[in-house]
This record gives sequence, structure tokens and C-alpha cells, in this order.
Amino acid sequence: MPHPAAPFPMTRPRRLRQSDWMRRLVRETTLSVDDLIWPVFVVDGVNQRQPIPSMPGVERVSVDLIAEKANEAAGLGIPCIALFPYTDPAAKTPGAEEAWNPDNLVNRATREIKKQVPDIGIMLDVALDPYNSDGHDGIVRDGRIVNDESLIALQQQALSHAEAGADILGPSDMMDGRVAIIRQALEQNDFPDVTILSYAAKYASAFYGPFRDAVGANGALKGDKKTYQMDPGNSDEAMREVAIDLSEGADMVMVKPGMPYLDICTRVKREFGVPTYAYQVSGEYAMIQAAAQNGWIDGQAAMLESLAGFKRAGCDGILTYFAKDVATLIAEEGL
Ligand code: PBG
Repeated sequence: MPHPAAPFPMTRPRRLRQSDWMRRLVRETTLSVDDLIWPVFVVDGVNQRQPIPSMPGVERVSVDLIAEKANEAAGLGIPCIALFPYTDPAAKTPGAEEAWNPDNLVNRATREIKKQVPDIGIMLDVALDPYNSDGHDGIVRDGRIVNDESLIALQQQALSHAEAGADILGPSDMMDGRVAIIRQALEQNDFPDVTILSYAAKYASAFYGPFRDAVGANGALKGDKKTYQMDPGNSDEAMREVAIDLSEGADMVMVKPGMPYLDICTRVKREFGVPTYAYQVSGEYAMIQAAAQNGWIDGQAAMLESLAGFKRAGCDGILTYFAKDVATLIAEEGL
């Protein structure tokens, strides 16, 4: 049958979608195992594997099992893991002193991994919430989160993590001036190579719920974090936060949460051109897993699509609880 004379599409975007090889050939961004940072939860005890109900597929492990996790990640080519502690409630205080105990969970876990799996990067969060009986990232006085006193605590925490062997510190507390005070302490104490990946644009989000279960901060948290974490309506403010953190000595910056803030990722990468990461947080992970478990979405496809979105938005990498799953998929099937 002859084609009608007009209209006749000379331009057919579908030509470039006609086969798998063609789609691969024209794909603009790809996900690689090199883009992944894997968050892992650590708990006291021996031979502990504790599933986290609100994060299906994620477990807390004790320090004796942590090297096994790091080994799995390294074997899959994941460049870096991020450790988070479930601190015994008895060790939590208003001053959060456990944060700089040289033998706290993440410091012990870091030393263990450095001994057994020296070639994987280790990132540790700098924030008081896993150690603070108030559940806040800073010190609470008379119901207020006091900025400058918190900085002193955060500086001590950062140094104890550097001494334990952390390669990357992730200040996730959103106090003003924290990057500067941490950078200064690192320089003065002979840790010039310790890298700062600041949680520069961290929003006061409902998507952190399962994480607070995972680190046992949920019951402890009094009030909310809106006086220090950012308002979800703001975008220019995120650029100011990034500019401040870079001027204070951050090497890399993060946007958190991820999926609801892809516009922020794009702006940060365009406006600053620095290594930019997104944290696909616990609530984002939980949503995908819960829908998949109910048979409402294809979990694997949704995982890959969500991670592709971060790369398309301009991110250089993603902190994601899917890191091991996606790395396994890349190893087994390619992408
Ligand atoms: C602590 C911290 C939080 C997360 C990472 N570091 C929680 C919070 O700010 O309440 C959230 C990570 C996640 O939800 O996966 N400052």
C-alpha cells in the first residue's frame, strides 16, 4: 500500500528504539558499579544478622560479620561502603559522647574492614543522632538544637572516625559551619587526605522513617528536624548550602533524599561542576520493595529505572540500599 503523500514523518525517533543494540548504542547515560556507595548497618554482639522489617532485604550485622559484607561489595566492584550504627540505647546520652568513643560500633567496624578488606573505601556519617538520647543530629538544650556547641561534638566525632581509618566523612547533621570545623581538625591532626562528602542539601523529609528504625533513633527523636534540615520547597537555598560547604572544604556534595529532589541534583551539577551524589534514602527503598512484594510493580525494573534517573539528572554516584543487588545484576547480566 503506498504511503499517503502528506503528512509523512521524515523524522522518526522510533528508528533509534527499534532493537536492543540500537537502544544501547544511543543511550545517553549508563549506570555502572563504579557509581555505587552501599550503606550498611552495624549492631553490637557476635554473629548477629538482624533483618530490618521496614527495609526488606536489609539487615544489621555485628562487627565480626562486617568484613564479609565489605568483601562481598569489593568482590562485586562496589567502590565504597557507608557504615551506620544501631547504638545500644544505654549508650545514648544528651551529650552523645559515644559518637567519639574510639571503640564505638562504626570505629570498630572500620578498623576490622581496613584490616581484612583494605581496598574498599569506607564512608562514615558525622551526625549525633545515633548516639544522642534526644535523637537529634546536634545537641539539644532547652528544646533547641544548639549549633555551635554541636560543632565541638561533631569535630570530636569526625576526628575519632578519621583515627579509626575512615576514608570519607559525610557530615549529615546540617549544622552551620560543620564542614569548616571538621576540615580544620583534619588538617591540624595530620589527616589531609580524609575526604569530605557533605550532605550539603539535606531536606527535612518523611522518607527517612525506615532508617530511623534501622539505627534505633525513631523512639528517641523528640520533635522534628525542621530547624536544621532544609524545607522541601526550596531550591536556591540548596545552591547556597552547596556553595558554603565547598568554600569550607567539602570535596564532594550530596543531595538527600534522591528521587523527589532530582531537580536539585541537576542544578548542583550544572552550577558547580563538582562530584555530586544523591542518597536514595530508606523510604525510597522501602516504597519500591513494598510495592514489588505486593506484586504491584516489577521490583528489579523499578530499581534500575530509579537509579538510571540519578545518572540522567547528572549525579556522579548514588548511595543506595540496592547497591549490592544492582552490582550483582551487572556482574551476572551486564546492563
Ligand atoms: C543522620 C542520617 C539520616 C540518614 C542518613 N544519615 C537520618 C536523618 O537525618 O534523620 C537517612 C538515610 C536514609 O533514610 O536512608 N543524620
